[in-house]
Amino acid sequence: MNAIKDKLTTFSKGDPANKPIIFIHGFPFDHNMWNNQAEALSSNYFCVSYDIRGLGESSVGDGQYTMEMLADDLLDIIEKEKLYKPVLCGLSMGGYIAQRAVEKSESLFSALILCDTKSAADNNDAKIKRAEGIKKINELGLKKFVEGFIPNCFNEESISKPFYKETLKRSLNFSPTGVKGCLLAMAGRTDTSEFLSEIKIPVLVICGERDKLTPLHIMEEMADLIADCEFHIIPGAGHITPLENSGMVNKIIKDFLSRKVIKKK
Ligand code: MLT
Repeated sequence: MNAIKDKLTTFSKGDPANKPIIFIHGFPFDHNMWNNQAEALSSNYFCVSYDIRGLGESSVGDGQYTMEMLADDLLDIIEKEKLYKPVLCGLSMGGYIAQRAVEKSESLFSALILCDTKSAADNNDAKIKRAEGIKKINELGLKKFVEGFIPNCFNEESISKPFYKETLKRSLNFSPTGVKGCLLAMAGRTDTSEFLSEIKIPVLVICGERDKLTPLHIMEEMADLIADCEFHIIPGAGHITPLENSGMVNKIIKDFLSRKVIKKK
């Protein structure tokens, strides 16, 4: 574990001499979302994850976050940790950060993995829901918000699994200011849809079959716009595919990397 500027806390597994993969978690979660992938991939890759500003063990500050700031945090980590041409893998909000970072600095990356995310910015309804979320945290507390939000992220069967309870417990301990800061950043993010057709690096798109937040048709449309893209559906999984069907996600990522990245190393 390393603390860097602004106390963005990073975690790594594997040999730093190997190809780096940097994992970005979704909202309102932390780096633990990617533990199964880091474990499975660490014999061949240098697996790095971190807690997004405001969540997990990273610093909270004043909670005035923008998506631009979150993308710059990622670019700072890559520079400070000296990660050469990493593969970038983001889920949902992590995918928003990943898309914006690739839009800003594509040459830094060797491949992109987008899990359960979208390229469109928030429409008016979504912005109003973010505002309602902030109001709920202010008036009723973080617990009410988290307990209302997180069940929708998983499919019904996952809710009885130990990983669900562990994830929920961690999120209940986050800073309300940090969670509200992420809601603000997501509400104000740009739309990366037009950029998708310009992406030159290989892209893997993964979507849970029962993802209610970023459903299949949205991710299929995104994948269709990307030139060098593979699209995979994870049967039975909801929005949090790396936890809900980690075995299948690990295999798809490994196969993609061995076809598209390792051979080019
Ligand atoms: C996430 O999983 O990161 C969130 O559901 C993203 C969002 O609320 O837009």
